[in-house]
Parts: sequence; structure tokens; C-alpha cells
Amino acid sequence: MNVETGAPSLQFIRALPKTELHLHIEGTLEPELIFELAQRNKIHLPYANIDRLRDAYKFSNLQSFLDLYYAGASVLLTERDFYDMTMAYMRRAQDDGVIHAEIMFDPQTHTQRGVKLETVFAGISRALREVRETTGITSSLILSFLRHLSENDALETFDAALALRRQYEDLWISVGLDSAELGNPPEKFARVFALARELGFRLVVHAGEEGPASYVCNALDILHAERIDHGVASEQDPDLMHRLQVEQIPLTVCPLSNLKLCVIQNLREHNLARMLRQGLLVTVNSDDPAYFGGYLADNYAASAEALDLSHKEVAILARNSIVASFLPDDAKQKLLDLWTAKVHELMPHAFAS
Ligand code: ADE
Ligand code: ZN
Repeated sequence: MNVETGAPSLQFIRALPKTELHLHIEGTLEPELIFELAQRNKIHLPYANIDRLRDAYKFSNLQSFLDLYYAGASVLLTERDFYDMTMAYMRRAQDDGVIHAEIMFDPQTHTQRGVKLETVFAGISRALREVRETTGITSSLILSFLRHLSENDALETFDAALALRRQYEDLWISVGLDSAELGNPPEKFARVFALARELGFRLVVHAGEEGPASYVCNALDILHAERIDHGVASEQDPDLMHRLQVEQIPLTVCPLSNLKLCVIQNLREHNLARMLRQGLLVTVNSDDPAYFGGYLADNYAASAEALDLSHKEVAILARNSIVASFLPDDAKQKLLDLWTAKVHELMPHAFAS
């Protein structure tokens, strides 16, 4: 592969060892699987067929997407459903060169419908453990609280999940905050995040997707988030940008999501390249790939094309994804070594000192 001329190809992108750090497992439900699970579980869908459902994937903002996302997730009832969904995503991830994935799931989306928390954990974890055994691809779980619900609801959910912690300690290492951002600022969840921190969980928070830069500041200062999901609004605040650069606080950016949810009107406007070139620890991720028209490699490819990213910049984005992961140091170093070996093979001149 001669990779040092032309635009970075999908083949080049897939060959780079990388991680996925911002992925909602419920957002990987493809319309085909939604229909299959609806049939299996005898659930009526208000769409005549798969194409009509796909036609509905036209969003004007985050809320218009979330309405469909929660409706889509309503077909998930049994352990097997959660297993099948997770397996389908991990196959896609493997094809895209993902060597480690930190996966969000929204327990409240399911417990509110009467699905047991045990069922959710069991199905997702069985798939992730099986994939780890058979392919070596590692993963962890980020239990995400829905910010449109109350903090007490989050605390109750967390309490119920803690009873399962021992059983899933190889996977569940982190908590997050997602759903409707505007009007639900980070500080609404100060108590549950303080508890999670005390109990040793790694912390991530969606902030600065539709909300302002001050939500990113509050996620860092009040919730002690270690990684910001999205964070694209940070550019509104030069002091915050300086802090993100100096402290190398990772941002898990999702370009196709931002485009589909009208955070930007055109991918060429996206600030991913600007933030990368200012030395921020930005990563590329897929968020809800079944809804936004592309998995991880598609997000890299579309960004590379729209923003004129060089091969070297794309390779650095892949490296950032390893650096920004919550892997222990020894495991992280192994993945960085894999990245170095691959980059030397693909582009022997790019990183020569
Ligand atoms: N849940 C699933 N996708 C999300 C997003 N992009 N923002 C907030 N919550 C979400
Ligand atoms: Zn997200």
C-alpha cells in the first residue's frame, strides 16, 4: 500500500490499530436487527418495513434523534437480544481495525420498560467476553446515566448496578452521562458522580455537543470528568481550549454524529482538524453509527476527506484513541507498540526523526 500520496483511504484507515471510545451500544441497532428483534419479541413497530424506518432517520437536533433512538431500543427484551446487538457491533468494529472498545450503555432506557438490569449486563458482557476470547479485541463498559431523568433515578440505578459490580468487574469500569444536554447541566449529577469517583470508577461526561462551553468546564470542575464526550463547543472559550491542550484532556469527537444532528451544517466546518492542529487530545468516534450513516472507519474517512487530513494526522488520531483509553499502562503500551509497528510498515518516512 503506497499511502503517502492522495487522500487517506478506507483501507489505510482500517489497517491502523485504534480504539473506539464513544459508542452507544443501543445506537448500533441497524434497522434490519430492529425488525428482526421486533418480530422475535412480537413488538409492533410503527413502520411498514425497514426502508420506511430508515427514511425516518432525518434529524434536526439531538432530541429529534433521541426520540427515535429510545423507540428503536424498545425491541430489546432478552439477554439474547443484548448479546446479538453487541456481537453485531463487535464484528463491524473488528472489520474497522478496532483493537479495543469502551462501550456505553444506558440501563435506564431498559429498566424503565421492565427489563432487568441483570439481563442487560448479561447479554452485553457475554458478547464482549466471547469476542475477547476469540479475537483478542478487548473492551470495557461505561454505564451511562440519562441526564433528562432525575439524579435520584441515576442514584437508584447506580445502586442496583453496584450489586452486580463483582460479577462484571472485568468490564464495568466507568460511568458516563448522556441524553438531552440542554437544560440538564453536569452539576445536576454532582452527587452520583462524587459517589462513582469515591468507588473508583473512571468518569466520562457528554458536554459541549449542543450545550455551551461552560458545560464542559462544569463537567471537569464539578463532576471531575476525565474525558469529555464531544466537547466541540469548547472552542467558544479560549481559556478552556488552553486548559484542554495543557492538561491533554481527551475529547471523544464524533464527526458524522455532529453532521447528522445539525451541530454543524457541513463536515468542512468541523473543528476536529483545528483542535488536532492546536495539540488537543482529540479522538474520532462513531457515537450511534446505525443512525448516523457510518461506523468508525467511515468517520475517519469522511473527516479526512472534508478536512484535508494528511496520512500522518489520521495516524495521530488513531494513536490519540489509544492514549485516551482507560486501559492500564501495560495494556496501553502494548497497543501503542502495535500502532508504532503498523505505522512504520505503512508510512516509513512520516514519523522519521
Ligand atoms: N445518547 C446516544 N447518543 C447520544 C448523543 N449523541 N448525545 C447525547 N446522548 C446520546
Ligand atoms: Zn454520545
